[in-house]
Amino acid sequence: MKLSGKHPFFRDLTYVVGLSVCLLSLLLVGWRVIPAVPTPPIVALIMPPDSNFTNLWTAPTEAQLKRLPTNQQSLIRYGRDLIAHTANYLGPKGSVMRMSNGMNCQNCHLNAGTQPWGNNYGAVQATYPKFRERSGTVENQVKRVNDCFQRSLNGRPLDSTSREMRGILAYIKWLGSDVPPKQIPRGAGLFKLKGLSRPANSDKGLTLYTQKCQVCHQANGEGVLAEGGKSYTYPPLWGTHSYNQGAGLFRLSNLAGYVRYNMPLGATYEAPQLTDEEAWDLAAYINSQPRPAGDISRDWPNLAGKPFDHPFGPYTDPFSEQQHKYGPFKPIKDWKEAHK
Ligand code: HEC
Ligand code: HEC
Repeated sequence: MKLSGKHPFFRDLTYVVGLSVCLLSLLLVGWRVIPAVPTPPIVALIMPPDSNFTNLWTAPTEAQLKRLPTNQQSLIRYGRDLIAHTANYLGPKGSVMRMSNGMNCQNCHLNAGTQPWGNNYGAVQATYPKFRERSGTVENQVKRVNDCFQRSLNGRPLDSTSREMRGILAYIKWLGSDVPPKQIPRGAGLFKLKGLSRPANSDKGLTLYTQKCQVCHQANGEGVLAEGGKSYTYPPLWGTHSYNQGAGLFRLSNLAGYVRYNMPLGATYEAPQLTDEEAWDLAAYINSQPRPAGDISRDWPNLAGKPFDHPFGPYTDPFSEQQHKYGPFKPIKDWKEAHK
């Protein structure tokens, strides 16, 4: 339809439509720009990928603890203290035994393993013993706790009969007292982050690391020791004193899920400070740095059971170690699905 020099109705219509489009775009642009300008932290604009915060698992209360017999209470309290201040008891300068790297369980299991999507222990009591592909065995809680001692704390296993192990298990059991058997409550463990369609990029990760993480974890990822040198104020992210290559965080999806909702310090699932992409790129940077090897020679006895982001071959699928480490993971997951 030609509009030039015709019926006044069409001419007017053109003006009206044109004007409305202008006004509308102003309004839209205005909406986007105005609130963003005066508040420099972009932080507030980063949405959680999952904002359904109803029915999240929470730990039993102190009042509930006080209702238990005193000897049980004190064992649980000792367990909680061991999770929060592991190094004071079991680190390189530990008062009970020297068998781990100076990190605390709580460095990764936030708030003594009670923080939603902060790698909490909400599901442990309800789901163990369970079969795990990594060992190819049914693992009980002693084995699972010692996995973290040997890998995440790059140390030695704790005797199953020691008061320390009994304390940790009593605490984990108490945390799960309200969770029905076999149930994984909402918010348990780590957040499962959606994958990227490109490989995670450690160069971008380095830039982000310098801006957002280095102030605490330091340029060489070595962290900052607390006064007295027994434990860390800011734990190490790589290097000799960090988790080893057999640890859960050495899988990119676990590390990205952890930082997305919990770092920089103060971020939570409700107020995250990183986008999905930033979390993946930071994870790529951190896990491309040197760290202890750990003994992984007996892991994944069934090759087909290796997770999509296990960075060491051999694999039963045709993808490279590089792709298993940095992604994109969807083609690997699709292949696995098709070859079950
Ligand atoms: C460097 C980080 C880190 C540290 C330190 C650490 N863990 Fe873990 N832990 C993890 C990660 C990551 C997972 C989840 C791994 C996975 O799902 O593959 C995990 C899983 C677990 C689980 C199983 C949770 C579940 O729901 O199945 C238990 C139990 C556990 N850790 C106990 C401990 C104890 C006890 C300590 C201290 C002695 C400890 N962890 C220290 C990173 C860590
Ligand atoms: C203000 C200081 C601070 C900043 C900034 C910070 N962290 Fe942390 N980070 C901590 C502390 C403290 C812990 C241990 C938490 C605890 O024990 O409760 C921690 C724990 C961690 C852990 C698990 C423990 C370990 O040592 O492996 C990772 C991974 C991590 N931070 C990554 C990051 C990343 C990535 C950034 C940047 C986006 C970041 N952090 C920014 C203070 C900080």
